[in-house]
Amino acid sequence: MGLFSIFRKNKKEEVLLPPFDFGYLEVDMHNHLLPGIDDGSPSMEHTIGMLLKFKEMGYKKLIFTPHVMQDCYPNTPEIITAKLEEVKAECIKLDIEIELSASAEYNIEDSLMDKIKGNQLVPFPDKYILFEYSFFSKPNQTEQFIFELIVNGFKPIIAHFERYPYYFNQPEIVANYREKGVLIQVNLLSIVGHYGPDVQRQAHWLIDNGYVDFVATDCHRIDHLEILQRTATHPYFHKLKDLNLLNQHFWK
Ligand SMILES: [Fe+2]
Repeated sequence: MGLFSIFRKNKKEEVLLPPFDFGYLEVDMHNHLLPGIDDGSPSMEHTIGMLLKFKEMGYKKLIFTPHVMQDCYPNTPEIITAKLEEVKAECIKLDIEIELSASAEYNIEDSLMDKIKGNQLVPFPDKYILFEYSFFSKPNQTEQFIFELIVNGFKPIIAHFERYPYYFNQPEIVANYREKGVLIQVNLLSIVGHYGPDVQRQAHWLIDNGYVDFVATDCHRIDHLEILQRTATHPYFHKLKDLNLLNQHFWK
């Protein structure tokens, strides 16, 4: 009976709620739109197509976050900045008005330590840094990386926290991160089950408990945005308004 009543309640809420206006978030702070430098946009044409879709959804600013992964995507501050300028120039040419900036999504690996110590990072405003792990196994020395970021004045944000299977059903991990000052970013696509039911459950749990600091599209392809548009009535999008999200903090 319990399951049946939950189902009915959710169905009812989904029918009653209007589509969520993603423009409420204003800033998308995690996406892969810079062309040709990671597994996201393969060309300027794709980038422009996605930018127009972001605008249609109401976003005012995008912060591009290409992967930085020594073996696959050895992106440097120079490469990222040059690509950002190319996209900005194309937008001026095509008369597309949207605020653009860039940071990165750093993989936790040995080479990152040198980048932190050598100040070779592209941070968000106020020295926030987005980092990610392997989805298969938790890397060693995580604590050391976080410590190193913090003592060097950076504010670490863990990317799509809900997607790491080794963090499922471990509320103490979240408490531990928050105590250290690590912020949590959740992917909007996780909310609608794009990465499977376990990830979706974790995303909902984080939202219900107010453990989400940032949400983002993590957009690699235009269909990621199309899925969000199609699923915009999901009640958990509306719950985002009850959180103290920091997305708008990057509006500078
Ligand atoms: Fe990403």
